[in-house]
Amino acid sequence: MRPVLSVTSECAPLVKTGGLADVAGALPAAVSLAGWEMRTLLPGYPQVMDRVKLKQPLLSETDLFGGTGVIRPGTGGGLDVLVLDAPHLFDRSGAPYLDAEGEDWPDNPERFAALSWMAARIAAEGAGSWRPETLHCHDWQAGFAPVYLQALGASAGSVFTIHNMAFHGLAPATRRAALRLPAEGFTQDGFEFWNQVSSLKAGITWSNKVTTVSPTYARELMRTEFGMGLDGVLRNRSDDFVGILNGIDTVAWDPSTDPHIQTYKSPKGKARMKKELRKEFGLGDSAGPLCIVVSRLSDQKGLDLLVDALPVLVDRGGQLALLGTGDRRIEARLRAVAAAHPSVSVHIEYDEAKSHRMMAGADAILIPSRFEPCGLTQLYALRYGTVPVVAYTGGLVDTVINASPAAIRSGVATGIQFHPVTVDGLARGLFQLLELYSDKKVWSRMQTNAMRSEVGWSASAVQYAELYDQVAPGS
Ligand code: ADP
Ligand code: GLC
Repeated sequence: MRPVLSVTSECAPLVKTGGLADVAGALPAAVSLAGWEMRTLLPGYPQVMDRVKLKQPLLSETDLFGGTGVIRPGTGGGLDVLVLDAPHLFDRSGAPYLDAEGEDWPDNPERFAALSWMAARIAAEGAGSWRPETLHCHDWQAGFAPVYLQALGASAGSVFTIHNMAFHGLAPATRRAALRLPAEGFTQDGFEFWNQVSSLKAGITWSNKVTTVSPTYARELMRTEFGMGLDGVLRNRSDDFVGILNGIDTVAWDPSTDPHIQTYKSPKGKARMKKELRKEFGLGDSAGPLCIVVSRLSDQKGLDLLVDALPVLVDRGGQLALLGTGDRRIEARLRAVAAAHPSVSVHIEYDEAKSHRMMAGADAILIPSRFEPCGLTQLYALRYGTVPVVAYTGGLVDTVINASPAAIRSGVATGIQFHPVTVDGLARGLFQLLELYSDKKVWSRMQTNAMRSEVGWSASAVQYAELYDQVAPGS
Protein backbone atom coordinates (compact mmCIF):
# COMPACT_ATOMS: atom_id res chain seq x y z
CA MET A 1 0.00 0.00 0.00
CA ARG A 2 1.32 3.45 -0.93
CA PRO A 3 0.91 6.35 1.52
CA VAL A 4 -1.29 9.39 0.76
CA LEU A 5 -2.27 12.16 3.18
CA SER A 6 -5.72 13.72 2.92
CA VAL A 7 -5.70 17.33 4.20
CA THR A 8 -9.18 18.46 5.18
CA SER A 9 -10.98 20.79 7.56
CA GLU A 10 -13.84 18.33 8.16
CA CYS A 11 -14.34 14.60 7.99
CA ALA A 12 -17.39 12.47 8.84
CA PRO A 13 -18.19 11.06 11.33
CA LEU A 14 -15.83 13.21 13.43
CA VAL A 15 -16.78 16.73 12.31
CA LYS A 16 -19.17 17.79 9.55
CA THR A 17 -20.80 20.92 8.13
CA GLY A 18 -21.51 19.61 4.61
CA GLY A 19 -20.71 17.14 1.86
CA LEU A 20 -16.94 17.69 2.09
CA ALA A 21 -17.01 15.75 5.37
CA ASP A 22 -18.86 12.81 3.79
CA VAL A 23 -16.36 12.68 0.93
CA ALA A 24 -13.29 12.96 3.17
CA GLY A 25 -14.75 10.29 5.45
CA ALA A 26 -15.43 7.85 2.62
CA LEU A 27 -12.22 8.29 0.60
CA PRO A 28 -9.80 6.27 2.80
CA ALA A 29 -11.79 3.03 2.47
CA ALA A 30 -12.46 3.71 -1.21
CA VAL A 31 -8.84 4.34 -2.26
CA SER A 32 -7.50 1.50 -0.11
CA LEU A 33 -9.14 -0.89 -2.58
CA ALA A 34 -7.04 0.78 -5.27
CA GLY A 35 -3.77 0.32 -3.36
CA TRP A 36 -3.42 3.56 -1.35
CA GLU A 37 -3.20 3.86 2.41
CA MET A 38 -4.82 7.19 3.24
CA ARG A 39 -4.41 8.98 6.56
CA THR A 40 -6.39 12.13 7.25
CA LEU A 41 -4.95 15.32 8.73
CA LEU A 42 -7.62 17.20 10.70
CA PRO A 43 -7.68 20.27 12.96
CA GLY A 44 -7.94 19.45 16.67
CA TYR A 45 -11.38 21.00 17.24
CA PRO A 46 -12.91 20.00 20.62
CA GLN A 47 -15.20 17.39 19.00
CA VAL A 48 -12.21 15.81 17.21
CA MET A 49 -10.08 15.78 20.40
CA ASP A 50 -13.00 14.11 22.21
CA ARG A 51 -13.72 11.44 19.62
CA VAL A 52 -10.21 10.38 18.61
CA LYS A 53 -8.08 8.05 20.69
CA LEU A 54 -4.85 10.03 20.55
CA LYS A 55 -1.30 8.78 20.88
CA GLN A 56 1.96 10.58 21.61
CA PRO A 57 2.98 13.56 19.42
CA LEU A 58 5.11 12.90 16.34
CA LEU A 59 5.94 16.42 15.15
CA SER A 60 5.79 19.77 16.86
CA GLU A 61 6.30 23.45 16.20
CA THR A 62 6.59 26.00 19.02
CA ASP A 63 5.46 29.05 17.09
CA LEU A 64 2.73 27.85 14.78
CA PHE A 65 0.93 31.12 14.08
CA GLY A 66 0.97 32.26 17.71
CA GLY A 67 1.26 29.10 19.82
CA THR A 68 2.45 25.53 19.92
CA GLY A 69 1.06 22.98 17.48
CA VAL A 70 1.72 19.25 17.59
CA ILE A 71 0.74 16.40 15.30
CA ARG A 72 -0.75 13.46 17.18
CA PRO A 73 -1.74 10.21 15.46
CA GLY A 74 -4.89 8.38 16.49
CA THR A 75 -7.98 6.47 15.47
CA GLY A 76 -11.59 7.52 15.61
CA GLY A 77 -14.79 7.00 13.63
CA GLY A 78 -13.12 4.11 11.81
CA LEU A 79 -10.37 6.37 10.45
CA ASP A 80 -6.61 6.67 10.81
CA VAL A 81 -6.10 10.33 11.60
CA LEU A 82 -3.33 12.76 12.30
CA VAL A 83 -4.68 15.55 14.47
CA LEU A 84 -3.19 19.03 14.59
CA ASP A 85 -3.44 19.74 18.31
CA ALA A 86 -3.11 23.53 18.52
CA PRO A 87 -5.46 24.88 21.21
CA HIS A 88 -4.76 28.55 20.37
CA LEU A 89 -6.26 27.94 16.90
CA PHE A 90 -8.84 25.19 17.33
CA ASP A 91 -9.98 24.87 20.94
CA ARG A 92 -13.08 27.00 20.37
CA SER A 93 -16.76 26.22 20.82
CA GLY A 94 -19.24 26.14 17.95
CA ALA A 95 -18.94 25.34 14.27
CA PRO A 96 -15.49 24.89 12.69
CA TYR A 97 -15.35 28.18 10.81
CA LEU A 98 -17.74 30.49 12.67
CA ASP A 99 -17.85 32.32 15.99
CA ALA A 100 -20.90 32.55 18.27
CA GLU A 101 -22.40 35.35 16.12
CA GLY A 102 -22.16 33.21 12.99
CA GLU A 103 -19.26 35.28 11.59
CA ASP A 104 -16.05 33.80 10.17
CA TRP A 105 -13.28 33.68 12.79
CA PRO A 106 -11.00 36.62 11.88
CA ASP A 107 -7.93 34.37 12.04
CA ASN A 108 -9.33 31.68 9.70
CA PRO A 109 -6.50 32.31 7.19
CA GLU A 110 -3.91 31.56 9.90
CA ARG A 111 -5.88 28.60 11.35
CA PHE A 112 -5.95 26.76 8.04
CA ALA A 113 -2.51 27.97 6.95
CA ALA A 114 -1.34 26.13 10.09
CA LEU A 115 -3.10 22.95 8.93
CA SER A 116 -1.54 23.28 5.47
CA TRP A 117 1.91 24.03 6.88
CA MET A 118 1.90 20.95 9.07
CA ALA A 119 0.71 18.86 6.09
CA ALA A 120 3.79 20.01 4.18
CA ARG A 121 6.01 19.22 7.18
CA ILE A 122 4.56 15.70 7.36
CA ALA A 123 5.41 15.30 3.67
CA ALA A 124 8.92 16.68 4.18
CA GLU A 125 9.86 14.87 7.41
CA GLY A 126 7.33 12.07 7.84
CA ALA A 127 5.08 11.41 10.82
CA GLY A 128 7.03 8.70 12.63
CA SER A 129 7.91 6.12 10.02
CA TRP A 130 4.96 7.07 7.81
CA ARG A 131 5.63 9.56 5.02
CA PRO A 132 3.14 10.36 2.25
CA GLU A 133 4.11 10.27 -1.42
CA THR A 134 1.14 12.46 -2.27
CA LEU A 135 -1.02 15.08 -0.56
CA HIS A 136 -4.72 15.20 -1.41
CA CYS A 137 -5.77 18.75 -0.43
CA HIS A 138 -9.44 19.69 -0.09
CA ASP A 139 -10.84 23.19 -0.72
CA TRP A 140 -9.41 26.57 0.31
CA GLN A 141 -8.56 25.35 3.81
CA ALA A 142 -5.78 23.18 2.34
CA GLY A 143 -4.88 25.50 -0.55
CA PHE A 144 -1.54 26.73 0.81
CA ALA A 145 -0.21 23.18 1.31
CA PRO A 146 1.19 22.87 -2.26
CA VAL A 147 2.96 26.27 -1.83
CA TYR A 148 4.49 25.14 1.47
CA LEU A 149 5.58 21.82 -0.07
CA GLN A 150 7.69 23.83 -2.47
CA ALA A 151 8.98 26.17 0.26
CA LEU A 152 10.09 23.19 2.39
CA GLY A 153 11.62 21.38 -0.59
CA ALA A 154 9.36 18.33 -0.08
CA SER A 155 9.18 16.00 -3.06
CA ALA A 156 5.60 14.77 -2.46
CA GLY A 157 3.10 15.36 -5.23
CA SER A 158 -0.16 17.25 -4.74
CA VAL A 159 -3.75 16.87 -5.88
CA PHE A 160 -6.11 19.75 -5.06
CA THR A 161 -9.88 19.18 -5.08
CA ILE A 162 -12.37 22.02 -5.45
CA HIS A 163 -15.57 21.06 -3.60
CA ASN A 164 -17.06 24.52 -3.84
CA MET A 165 -15.79 27.51 -5.83
CA ALA A 166 -17.87 29.91 -3.74
CA PHE A 167 -15.35 29.91 -0.89
CA HIS A 168 -12.04 31.58 -1.83
CA GLY A 169 -10.26 31.70 1.52
CA LEU A 170 -9.29 35.36 1.20
CA ALA A 171 -6.86 37.28 3.42
CA PRO A 172 -5.65 40.88 3.21
CA ALA A 173 -2.38 41.31 1.29
CA THR A 174 -0.80 42.75 4.45
CA ARG A 175 -0.93 39.28 6.03
CA ARG A 176 1.00 37.57 3.21
CA ALA A 177 4.39 37.42 4.95
CA ALA A 178 2.87 36.34 8.28
CA LEU A 179 1.12 33.53 6.37
CA ARG A 180 4.61 32.34 5.31
CA LEU A 181 3.89 32.95 1.65
CA PRO A 182 6.67 34.03 -0.74
CA ALA A 183 6.51 37.63 -2.03
CA GLU A 184 7.08 36.45 -5.62
CA GLY A 185 3.88 34.40 -5.44
CA PHE A 186 1.74 37.51 -4.97
CA THR A 187 1.01 38.00 -8.68
CA GLN A 188 -1.89 37.43 -11.02
CA ASP A 189 -0.36 34.09 -12.01
CA GLY A 190 0.11 33.17 -8.37
CA PHE A 191 -2.18 33.50 -5.33
CA GLU A 192 -3.11 37.18 -5.74
CA PHE A 193 -6.84 37.77 -6.27
CA TRP A 194 -7.99 41.39 -6.65
CA ASN A 195 -5.17 42.54 -4.35
CA GLN A 196 -5.92 39.95 -1.71
CA VAL A 197 -4.36 36.57 -0.97
CA SER A 198 -6.55 33.62 -2.09
CA SER A 199 -5.80 30.17 -0.73
CA LEU A 200 -8.21 28.65 -3.26
CA LYS A 201 -6.21 30.18 -6.09
CA ALA A 202 -2.97 29.04 -4.44
CA GLY A 203 -4.26 25.46 -4.45
CA ILE A 204 -5.29 25.70 -8.09
CA THR A 205 -2.03 27.21 -9.33
CA TRP A 206 0.52 25.34 -7.16
CA SER A 207 -0.82 21.79 -7.11
CA ASN A 208 0.28 19.20 -9.66
CA LYS A 209 -3.29 18.18 -10.50
CA VAL A 210 -6.60 19.90 -9.87
CA THR A 211 -9.92 18.11 -9.60
CA THR A 212 -13.49 18.98 -8.87
CA VAL A 213 -16.35 16.75 -7.83
CA SER A 214 -18.24 16.16 -11.11
CA PRO A 215 -17.43 16.33 -14.83
CA THR A 216 -20.18 18.88 -15.51
CA TYR A 217 -19.03 21.23 -12.72
CA ALA A 218 -15.48 20.96 -14.14
CA ARG A 219 -16.77 22.25 -17.49
CA GLU A 220 -18.93 24.92 -15.83
CA LEU A 221 -16.01 26.22 -13.74
CA MET A 222 -14.10 27.12 -16.88
CA ARG A 223 -16.94 29.49 -17.91
CA THR A 224 -17.44 33.01 -16.58
CA GLU A 225 -20.97 32.32 -15.29
CA PHE A 226 -19.73 29.71 -12.80
CA GLY A 227 -15.98 30.37 -12.41
CA MET A 228 -16.38 33.08 -9.75
CA GLY A 229 -13.41 34.99 -11.10
CA LEU A 230 -11.12 31.97 -11.44
CA ASP A 231 -12.46 30.53 -14.73
CA GLY A 232 -9.42 31.85 -16.64
CA VAL A 233 -7.04 30.35 -14.08
CA LEU A 234 -8.73 26.99 -14.53
CA ARG A 235 -8.71 27.27 -18.32
CA ASN A 236 -4.93 27.77 -18.08
CA ARG A 237 -4.74 24.52 -16.14
CA SER A 238 -7.19 22.58 -18.30
CA ASP A 239 -4.59 19.87 -19.13
CA ASP A 240 -4.28 19.09 -15.42
CA PHE A 241 -7.91 19.64 -14.42
CA VAL A 242 -10.52 16.88 -14.26
CA GLY A 243 -13.97 16.27 -12.76
CA ILE A 244 -14.25 13.09 -10.69
CA LEU A 245 -17.76 12.28 -9.52
CA ASN A 246 -18.38 11.87 -5.78
CA GLY A 247 -19.78 8.61 -4.51
CA ILE A 248 -21.57 7.87 -1.26
CA ASP A 249 -20.98 5.40 1.54
CA THR A 250 -23.28 2.62 0.35
CA VAL A 251 -23.02 0.81 3.69
CA ALA A 252 -24.17 3.76 5.81
CA TRP A 253 -26.87 4.53 3.22
CA ASP A 254 -28.33 1.09 2.57
CA PRO A 255 -32.12 0.86 2.84
CA SER A 256 -32.00 -2.83 3.69
CA THR A 257 -29.70 -2.43 6.72
CA ASP A 258 -30.05 1.23 7.75
CA PRO A 259 -30.33 1.28 11.57
CA HIS A 260 -32.16 4.64 11.44
CA ILE A 261 -35.20 3.17 9.69
CA GLN A 262 -37.33 0.08 9.91
CA THR A 263 -36.06 -2.31 7.28
CA TYR A 264 -37.69 -2.25 3.91
CA LYS A 265 -36.38 -3.93 0.82
CA SER A 266 -38.49 -2.45 -1.95
CA PRO A 267 -40.36 0.74 -2.72
CA LYS A 268 -43.44 -1.05 -1.33
CA GLY A 269 -42.02 -0.64 2.19
CA LYS A 270 -42.20 3.09 1.61
CA ALA A 271 -45.91 3.27 2.39
CA ARG A 272 -45.29 2.59 6.09
CA MET A 273 -42.22 4.84 6.25
CA LYS A 274 -44.19 7.61 4.56
CA LYS A 275 -46.97 7.39 7.12
CA GLU A 276 -44.44 7.75 9.94
CA LEU A 277 -42.68 10.61 8.21
CA ARG A 278 -45.97 12.50 7.78
CA LYS A 279 -46.63 12.01 11.48
CA GLU A 280 -43.14 13.18 12.44
CA PHE A 281 -43.65 16.39 10.43
CA GLY A 282 -47.28 16.89 11.48
CA LEU A 283 -48.62 16.51 7.92
CA GLY A 284 -52.02 15.00 7.16
CA ASP A 285 -52.84 12.32 4.59
CA SER A 286 -52.80 13.35 0.97
CA ALA A 287 -53.05 11.69 -2.43
CA GLY A 288 -50.17 13.78 -3.81
CA PRO A 289 -46.42 13.13 -3.49
CA LEU A 290 -44.60 13.76 -0.22
CA CYS A 291 -41.51 15.80 -1.16
CA ILE A 292 -38.49 16.50 1.02
CA VAL A 293 -35.56 18.92 1.17
CA VAL A 294 -32.45 18.13 3.27
CA SER A 295 -30.06 21.02 2.89
CA ARG A 296 -27.74 23.68 4.14
CA LEU A 297 -29.77 26.87 3.83
CA SER A 298 -27.64 29.12 1.64
CA ASP A 299 -28.22 31.06 -1.58
CA GLN A 300 -26.49 28.26 -3.50
CA LYS A 301 -29.35 25.86 -2.76
CA GLY A 302 -32.06 27.96 -4.52
CA LEU A 303 -34.74 27.44 -1.88
CA ASP A 304 -36.15 30.90 -2.60
CA LEU A 305 -37.08 29.53 -6.04
CA LEU A 306 -38.90 26.70 -4.31
CA VAL A 307 -40.83 29.09 -2.07
CA ASP A 308 -42.06 30.96 -5.16
CA ALA A 309 -42.90 27.81 -7.14
CA LEU A 310 -44.53 26.01 -4.21
CA PRO A 311 -48.20 26.73 -5.12
CA VAL A 312 -47.86 24.40 -8.13
CA LEU A 313 -47.15 21.56 -5.72
CA VAL A 314 -49.36 22.27 -2.72
CA ASP A 315 -52.44 23.37 -4.70
CA ARG A 316 -52.48 19.91 -6.31
CA GLY A 317 -52.14 17.77 -3.21
CA GLY A 318 -48.34 17.69 -2.91
CA GLN A 319 -46.62 18.12 0.46
CA LEU A 320 -43.22 19.35 1.58
CA ALA A 321 -41.14 18.32 4.61
CA LEU A 322 -37.93 20.33 4.92
CA LEU A 323 -34.90 19.80 7.16
CA GLY A 324 -32.17 22.43 7.14
CA THR A 325 -30.14 25.08 8.92
CA GLY A 326 -28.01 28.01 7.84
CA ASP A 327 -28.74 31.55 6.70
CA ARG A 328 -31.06 33.19 9.25
CA ARG A 329 -33.06 35.06 6.58
CA ILE A 330 -33.76 31.86 4.64
CA GLU A 331 -34.72 30.09 7.88
CA ALA A 332 -37.23 32.85 8.70
CA ARG A 333 -38.73 32.81 5.21
CA LEU A 334 -39.21 29.04 5.30
CA ARG A 335 -40.81 29.20 8.75
CA ALA A 336 -43.27 31.80 7.42
CA VAL A 337 -44.15 29.61 4.44
CA ALA A 338 -44.79 26.63 6.74
CA ALA A 339 -47.05 28.78 8.94
CA ALA A 340 -49.10 29.78 5.87
CA HIS A 341 -49.43 26.31 4.27
CA PRO A 342 -50.75 23.27 6.15
CA SER A 343 -49.04 20.98 3.62
CA VAL A 344 -45.59 22.42 4.32
CA SER A 345 -43.61 21.53 7.44
CA VAL A 346 -40.17 22.89 8.22
CA HIS A 347 -37.68 21.61 10.80
CA ILE A 348 -34.85 24.08 11.30
CA GLU A 349 -32.17 21.86 12.78
CA TYR A 350 -29.37 19.48 11.89
CA ASP A 351 -30.34 15.84 12.45
CA GLU A 352 -28.52 13.02 10.71
CA ALA A 353 -30.95 10.25 11.81
CA LYS A 354 -33.95 12.28 10.66
CA SER A 355 -32.32 12.78 7.25
CA HIS A 356 -32.21 8.97 6.86
CA ARG A 357 -35.89 8.63 7.80
CA MET A 358 -36.76 11.32 5.26
CA MET A 359 -34.87 9.62 2.43
CA ALA A 360 -36.70 6.39 3.25
CA GLY A 361 -40.22 7.77 3.60
CA ALA A 362 -40.46 10.42 0.87
CA ASP A 363 -41.67 10.09 -2.71
CA ALA A 364 -39.39 12.80 -4.11
CA ILE A 365 -36.50 15.06 -3.10
CA LEU A 366 -36.31 18.63 -4.41
CA ILE A 367 -32.89 20.16 -5.19
CA PRO A 368 -33.28 23.53 -6.96
CA SER A 369 -29.60 24.58 -6.59
CA ARG A 370 -28.28 27.57 -8.56
CA PHE A 371 -24.99 25.70 -8.76
CA GLU A 372 -24.08 22.31 -7.32
CA PRO A 373 -20.53 20.97 -7.57
CA CYS A 374 -21.78 17.42 -7.03
CA GLY A 375 -24.51 17.13 -4.40
CA LEU A 376 -24.90 14.04 -2.27
CA THR A 377 -28.53 14.11 -1.19
CA GLN A 378 -29.80 13.12 -4.66
CA LEU A 379 -27.49 10.08 -4.43
CA TYR A 380 -28.88 9.05 -1.04
CA ALA A 381 -32.40 9.58 -2.40
CA LEU A 382 -31.78 7.40 -5.47
CA ARG A 383 -30.65 4.56 -3.22
CA TYR A 384 -33.92 4.74 -1.24
CA GLY A 385 -36.19 4.90 -4.29
CA THR A 386 -36.93 8.59 -3.68
CA VAL A 387 -37.16 10.35 -7.04
CA PRO A 388 -34.91 13.45 -7.38
CA VAL A 389 -36.26 16.65 -8.93
CA VAL A 390 -33.09 18.62 -9.62
CA ALA A 391 -31.79 21.77 -11.26
CA TYR A 392 -29.91 21.11 -14.50
CA THR A 393 -26.50 22.09 -13.15
CA GLY A 394 -23.19 20.58 -11.94
CA GLY A 395 -23.18 17.09 -10.51
CA LEU A 396 -26.98 16.99 -10.60
CA VAL A 397 -26.65 16.66 -14.40
CA ASP A 398 -24.24 13.71 -14.05
CA THR A 399 -26.18 11.68 -11.50
CA VAL A 400 -29.85 11.83 -12.55
CA ILE A 401 -31.33 10.46 -15.79
CA ASN A 402 -34.02 12.93 -16.82
CA ALA A 403 -37.53 11.65 -17.47
CA SER A 404 -37.70 12.81 -21.07
CA PRO A 405 -40.37 11.09 -23.17
CA ALA A 406 -37.63 8.93 -24.77
CA ALA A 407 -36.09 7.98 -21.39
CA ILE A 408 -39.52 7.05 -20.04
CA ARG A 409 -40.27 4.95 -23.14
CA SER A 410 -36.93 3.16 -22.82
CA GLY A 411 -37.51 2.68 -19.09
CA VAL A 412 -34.25 4.29 -17.94
CA ALA A 413 -35.37 7.53 -16.25
CA THR A 414 -34.41 8.03 -12.58
CA GLY A 415 -35.59 11.59 -11.92
CA ILE A 416 -36.50 15.02 -13.27
CA GLN A 417 -34.04 17.71 -14.33
CA PHE A 418 -35.53 21.15 -14.80
CA HIS A 419 -34.10 23.91 -16.94
CA PRO A 420 -33.68 26.89 -16.82
CA VAL A 421 -32.98 27.17 -13.10
CA THR A 422 -35.70 29.75 -12.46
CA VAL A 423 -39.07 29.82 -10.66
CA ASP A 424 -40.84 28.98 -13.95
CA GLY A 425 -38.40 26.18 -14.74
CA LEU A 426 -38.89 24.66 -11.29
CA ALA A 427 -42.67 25.08 -11.52
CA ARG A 428 -42.61 23.06 -14.77
CA GLY A 429 -40.46 20.42 -13.03
CA LEU A 430 -42.95 20.18 -10.16
CA PHE A 431 -45.82 19.91 -12.61
CA GLN A 432 -44.05 17.05 -14.36
CA LEU A 433 -43.47 15.38 -10.98
CA LEU A 434 -47.22 15.47 -10.26
CA GLU A 435 -48.00 13.97 -13.67
CA LEU A 436 -45.45 11.17 -13.37
CA TYR A 437 -46.53 10.42 -9.81
CA SER A 438 -50.11 9.91 -10.94
CA ASP A 439 -49.02 7.21 -13.43
CA LYS A 440 -48.29 4.36 -11.02
CA LYS A 441 -46.58 2.15 -13.61
CA VAL A 442 -44.13 4.81 -14.80
CA TRP A 443 -43.51 5.97 -11.24
CA SER A 444 -42.69 2.54 -9.90
CA ARG A 445 -40.33 1.92 -12.84
CA MET A 446 -38.51 5.17 -12.02
CA GLN A 447 -38.17 4.16 -8.38
CA THR A 448 -36.72 0.79 -9.32
CA ASN A 449 -34.29 2.41 -11.76
CA ALA A 450 -33.29 4.93 -9.11
CA MET A 451 -32.49 2.18 -6.62
CA ARG A 452 -30.31 0.43 -9.20
CA SER A 453 -28.23 3.55 -9.97
CA GLU A 454 -24.49 3.17 -9.44
CA VAL A 455 -23.76 5.61 -6.59
CA GLY A 456 -20.75 4.03 -4.89
CA TRP A 457 -17.09 5.02 -4.94
CA SER A 458 -15.44 2.23 -6.93
CA ALA A 459 -14.99 3.95 -10.32
CA SER A 460 -14.02 7.34 -8.84
CA ALA A 461 -11.58 5.82 -6.34
CA VAL A 462 -9.66 4.29 -9.25
CA GLN A 463 -9.49 7.71 -10.92
CA TYR A 464 -8.10 9.33 -7.75
CA ALA A 465 -5.60 6.50 -7.32
CA GLU A 466 -4.35 7.08 -10.87
CA LEU A 467 -3.82 10.77 -10.12
CA TYR A 468 -2.01 10.05 -6.82
CA ASP A 469 0.30 7.79 -8.80
CA GLN A 470 0.89 10.31 -11.60
CA VAL A 471 1.96 13.11 -9.21
CA ALA A 472 4.02 10.98 -6.80
CA PRO A 473 7.79 11.47 -7.03
CA GLY A 474 9.51 9.11 -9.44
CA SER A 475 6.33 8.35 -11.41
P1 ADP B 1 -23.24 20.70 0.56
O1 ADP B 1 -21.93 20.07 0.84
O2 ADP B 1 -23.17 21.79 -0.45
O3 ADP B 1 -23.96 21.12 1.79
P2 ADP B 1 -24.05 18.01 -0.27
O4 ADP B 1 -25.34 17.54 -0.86
O5 ADP B 1 -22.81 17.61 -0.95
O6 ADP B 1 -24.18 19.60 -0.16
O7 ADP B 1 -23.89 17.47 1.20
C1 ADP B 1 -24.71 17.85 2.26
C2 ADP B 1 -24.59 16.83 3.37
O8 ADP B 1 -25.08 17.38 4.58
C3 ADP B 1 -25.41 15.59 3.12
O9 ADP B 1 -24.81 14.50 3.79
C4 ADP B 1 -26.74 15.95 3.78
O10 ADP B 1 -27.50 14.83 4.12
C5 ADP B 1 -26.25 16.68 5.01
N1 ADP B 1 -27.19 17.66 5.57
C6 ADP B 1 -27.40 18.93 5.16
N2 ADP B 1 -28.27 19.56 5.98
C7 ADP B 1 -28.63 18.66 6.91
C8 ADP B 1 -29.51 18.70 8.05
N3 ADP B 1 -30.17 19.81 8.38
N4 ADP B 1 -29.61 17.59 8.82
C9 ADP B 1 -28.93 16.46 8.51
N5 ADP B 1 -28.08 16.36 7.46
C10 ADP B 1 -27.94 17.44 6.67
C1 GLC C 1 -19.60 21.01 -1.60
C2 GLC C 1 -20.66 21.13 -2.68
C3 GLC C 1 -21.44 19.85 -2.93
C4 GLC C 1 -20.52 18.63 -2.93
C5 GLC C 1 -19.71 18.60 -1.64
C6 GLC C 1 -18.77 17.41 -1.57
O1 GLC C 1 -20.02 21.37 -0.36
O2 GLC C 1 -21.54 22.20 -2.44
O3 GLC C 1 -22.11 19.94 -4.17
O4 GLC C 1 -21.29 17.45 -3.05
O5 GLC C 1 -18.93 19.76 -1.56
O6 GLC C 1 -17.86 17.37 -2.66
